[in-house]
Amino acid sequence: MAGTIPREFIDEVLAYTDIVELIDSRVPLKRSGGNYMACCPFHGEKTPSFSVSQPKQFYHCFGCGASGDAIRFLMEYEHQSFVEAIEELAQMAGLQVPKVAYTNEAKKQAPEQFELLDQVSNYYQHQLNHHPKSQQVRDYVKQRGLSSEVIKTFGLGFSPPGWDNVLNVIGAGDQKKIQALFDTGMLIKRDEDGNNNSSSVSSRSPWYDRFRERLMFPIRDRRGRTIAFGGRILGDGKPKYLNSPETRLFHKGQELYGLFELKQALRKIERILVVEGYMDVVSLAQFGVNYSVATLGTATTSDHLQKLFRLCDDVYFCFDGDRAGREAAWRAMGNALPAIKPGKQAHFMFLPDGEDPDTLIRQKGKAGFETEMDQAMTFSEFFFDNLMQQVNMESLDGRSKLIDLSKPYLEKIQEGTFQTLMVARLSELAEIEQNSLYSLLGIKSNVAARISSSVPKEKSFHSKAGYSSPSQVPFSHKPEGPSPVKKAISYVLQHPYLAEKAGDPGRFASLELADMGVFMQLLDLLQNDPNLNTARILANWENTEQYEFLKRLALEQLLIKDEQAINCEFNEILQLFTRQYQQQRITQLQRKERQQGLNKLEKSEYLQLLQASKTK
Ligand code: UTP
Ligand code: MN
Repeated sequence: MAGTIPREFIDEVLAYTDIVELIDSRVPLKRSGGNYMACCPFHGEKTPSFSVSQPKQFYHCFGCGASGDAIRFLMEYEHQSFVEAIEELAQMAGLQVPKVAYTNEAKKQAPEQFELLDQVSNYYQHQLNHHPKSQQVRDYVKQRGLSSEVIKTFGLGFSPPGWDNVLNVIGAGDQKKIQALFDTGMLIKRDEDGNNNSSSVSSRSPWYDRFRERLMFPIRDRRGRTIAFGGRILGDGKPKYLNSPETRLFHKGQELYGLFELKQALRKIERILVVEGYMDVVSLAQFGVNYSVATLGTATTSDHLQKLFRLCDDVYFCFDGDRAGREAAWRAMGNALPAIKPGKQAHFMFLPDGEDPDTLIRQKGKAGFETEMDQAMTFSEFFFDNLMQQVNMESLDGRSKLIDLSKPYLEKIQEGTFQTLMVARLSELAEIEQNSLYSLLGIKSNVAARISSSVPKEKSFHSKAGYSSPSQVPFSHKPEGPSPVKKAISYVLQHPYLAEKAGDPGRFASLELADMGVFMQLLDLLQNDPNLNTARILANWENTEQYEFLKRLALEQLLIKDEQAINCEFNEILQLFTRQYQQQRITQLQRKERQQGLNKLEKSEYLQLLQASKTK
């Protein structure tokens, strides 16, 4: 992201937005009492339990628990990113997104280029059915098994033979248009690629069409605007595919072919399959696997991955089974690493020799293809399998080499559950104890994740009754009320700015208090992205065990309302944790002192702790 959108602007956008109007235009609402109701768009149901409140500017489904504000709705319903949702709401409200935040200034300045590319795309589509020579393409497409429906969905077209079709039909002698067509890669300037002597260029014009006599695949952006094309030669010949060059509108490393169509087809995206070819995507859709996208002749970038993981939890990569395929998979793995977040999983699928997704689905059909997908390797399987092939796992040396080989990759993973799991697996494989492994790897053990998994799950996590009984909480501020940790979580969820005041979350890591792990994850999340609002924070826990628990805390009525008092109360809780930590450490050191004595460092730590506890 080029910058963050100022909070005030987000508030302004929300202030101009009416959530009822916004949702009603997508999911027709019916008035019912003080609220508006509909059948929930996020889960299947026959009787409406999806309610939208005008005064609260919030939606909530009593059936599936989906809830949030206007931004959240667009993110969920239209699969937009946060920035995209803001952009759309701002546009509806007639507000200008502040410059610093605008992620794609170039696109903003280029409405006429979009317009022209759409015209080109329509022209190609029309030619597919009407050009005198189009029969050959239609036969080709038919022979590849594509129905007219799929052709329409993907907007496939035909660039007719000839050097000046787009030039004349779309450019129409208008220099501005011709320049814009050149800027979008549709035209080539004769003297630019050494083609100026080409006798086939009949006209005197310095421009000629890039795409001639090809089956055309429009590449669309998230809003469905055409930004580039891929063109396949009919039959054999080279190059098989010709693509638009990088332009202001088209950045290969960011776009994915088929993503717009996928989002149009699916309300709820369970998983996404990443393949290599245009034809694969179209053919998979033809056979009912309508959740695939293709990279555009580049390796998968982490930018791609982040986009995909925003839409669903499981991303499947599909590769050839040969050596080149495995190497490509390894590159994709490296790019995937930094993008994997808690709850997200990458899978690696290898195709039988000589097959591509297009040929495979023709052979096996949807069900058969999906069975193959289900056998894909998980990230950690693929990762360790590959590295283990390079070492002798029977020897201590080999196992130690495995650690060395893993290290640079494990370092790149975001701290959190995924890293913890990978280290745990390595510890099993290398037969080395986890703590030692962490220090060998030189990465911080993710204490938060480990604590949260080692603390026994409280019953209260799911009970409607509310907080756990005081006896379950090892340390309680007010025995009858919520535990301080829960209080702290509640405060941060409802006033995310507090996270910044908490300092390094790691300092409470070893505090053995229930829910401390979640609290630290929460702080961590907000310190990385301070602009999250409550709905968006919660989104990070969606589909996890803690979601309900956190949502309850987010909705908890806080008695204190004024900001100063809130700060003060939150600070007190933090101080309490600090004291609690010191106490815990003192007890530990005392025990050790009795049992085996303390070393020099521990002694000085002990003394410092005693000092600190006295001054409180
Ligand atoms: P493939 O050669 O695997 O083609 O290229 P394909 O998808 O199987 O196509 P069909 O089945 O022969 O029609 C995969 C992708 O690599 C890029 C394109 O993006 C293509 O979809 N590519 C391939 C090119 O850009 N140029 C080429 O000449 C070939
Ligand atoms: Mn193919």
